[in-house]
Amino acid sequence: MSKSLSHVFLPVFGGTAFVLAAAVAFANRNYGQSQIETLETRIEQVEANAAAARENAQAEANRAAELELKVEEIQAAAAERVASGANLTAPAPSHDGIYGLGRPALEEEVAAWDVDVLPDGRGLPAGSGDVWTGEEVFADRCASCHGEFAEGVDNWPVLAGGFDTLADEDPVKTVGSYWPHLSTAWDYISRSMPFGEAGTLTADETYAIVAYILYSNDLVDDDFELNNENFADFEMYNMDGFVVDVRPETEYTEWRKEPCMENCKAEATVTMRSVFLVETPPEGGSNSVMNDANPDELPVFTADGPSFIPTAAPKPEEEAAATPAVQEAAEVDETAELVSAGEKVFKKCKACHQVGEGAKHSTGPTLNGVIGANAGSVEGFKYSNAMKDAAEAGLIWTAEEMAAFLAKPKEYMKGTRMSFAGLKKPDDIEAVIVYLKSFGN
Ligand code: HEC
Ligand code: HEC
Repeated sequence: MSKSLSHVFLPVFGGTAFVLAAAVAFANRNYGQSQIETLETRIEQVEANAAAARENAQAEANRAAELELKVEEIQAAAAERVASGANLTAPAPSHDGIYGLGRPALEEEVAAWDVDVLPDGRGLPAGSGDVWTGEEVFADRCASCHGEFAEGVDNWPVLAGGFDTLADEDPVKTVGSYWPHLSTAWDYISRSMPFGEAGTLTADETYAIVAYILYSNDLVDDDFELNNENFADFEMYNMDGFVVDVRPETEYTEWRKEPCMENCKAEATVTMRSVFLVETPPEGGSNSVMNDANPDELPVFTADGPSFIPTAAPKPEEEAAATPAVQEAAEVDETAELVSAGEKVFKKCKACHQVGEGAKHSTGPTLNGVIGANAGSVEGFKYSNAMKDAAEAGLIWTAEEMAAFLAKPKEYMKGTRMSFAGLKKPDDIEAVIVYLKSFGN
């Protein structure tokens, strides 16, 4: 039976094997074919790359050759200049003296630097200019920044007007209203204007411009001409607005007197007032807060030194963190702890808020009974519109709302007038809320 069965199966298996073998062979041929195609594409790519690289190299070589030519040109030009001696400063000869360096400055060199003009006209070059010429030059060289009439464009300086504003909260200081000497205008303009092109004005142009600025300030008529002759006679509007500084003769001598060292106190007390004015608030707000140093505990300084060395008071956070033992204590104790931790946190609020008996509004409202109360409801305090809106919308200072507010006041309530960065630590927030609760619900 088994034999006849094998007769039936063998040919079947044999047939299957043949079909499989044929399929594999066919697939292999196909695979081989596609492999060849891939390789061919690769070769094409490599050839293309090589061509591009050759082109690049050629371009580089051309550029290098160009540059080399340029360098040669420059070198030739330099050599020519050296040969003709043009544009070259002679090296400074060594000079007698301690360092053996340098030479005395030439007269021309000194003259080039010596351009200052003094109130009495000393230093002015000969020249002149009138208002009409000045108007043209000013329109051309200055008006783009200072305006056609010296009124100033955007935020560029105003050069005219502003008379009698010097005592105002926002004085307009111009050449006309403020500057006491005309020489300052001449000197400044000739040295530093037009902005970015300093030193390009001729003397005559400068006279003309200064004449025009005086005209813009209604200090001269339109037929005025300014020159080195009439310059020193011109009196500016604010010439008497400055006083001579006499402190060197008056105050300084007073301070230099021999100090009196008689009847001195035997014991000097350092009050350490600054100890009470705590550093920048740690939360980054803008208000200093007082710390709780006790004046009676401060050291006394005598000739022998301080009575004791004070140690820095622990920061509220550190102290709060250093009291985990409270957890085992009774709940009453826990509340008491929180109240006292909250009192410390409240130092950050004290600059603006008062609590307790006799509390008054200051920058912020009194906070007695605020927890559980309607927001913005304390009589007699002028709240921001934001707080008023919140009050109208029915905001109640539950512990949750208060916690959110104190974490980031400005984010919680856009437009609130409470300029306080917020309390970062949830523990601090919890504590200060418990503290506020202790002043009534
Ligand atoms: C590109 C803009 C620009 C131009 C053009 C220009 N200025 Fe000015 N000017 C300035 C700026 C900026 C200042 C302020 C410079 C400073 O405070 O250091 C100034 C300051 C001045 C001041 C002093 C003003 C003050 O009250 O302190 C005078 C005077 C003045 N310029 C005159 C001129 C004159 C005259 C010209 C034309 C010759 C001129 N400026 C052209 C930008 C300009
Ligand atoms: C720089 C001053 C300032 C500081 C610091 C400050 N506040 Fe205020 N606070 C204000 C002002 C101002 C308002 C009124 C806000 C408004 O009208 O928008 C206010 C409002 C409040 C209100 C709402 C009162 C009400 O009647 O609705 C609470 C509660 C409050 N502050 C708590 C605190 C606490 C707690 C601190 C400290 C962690 C603190 N504030 C720190 C100025 C300050």
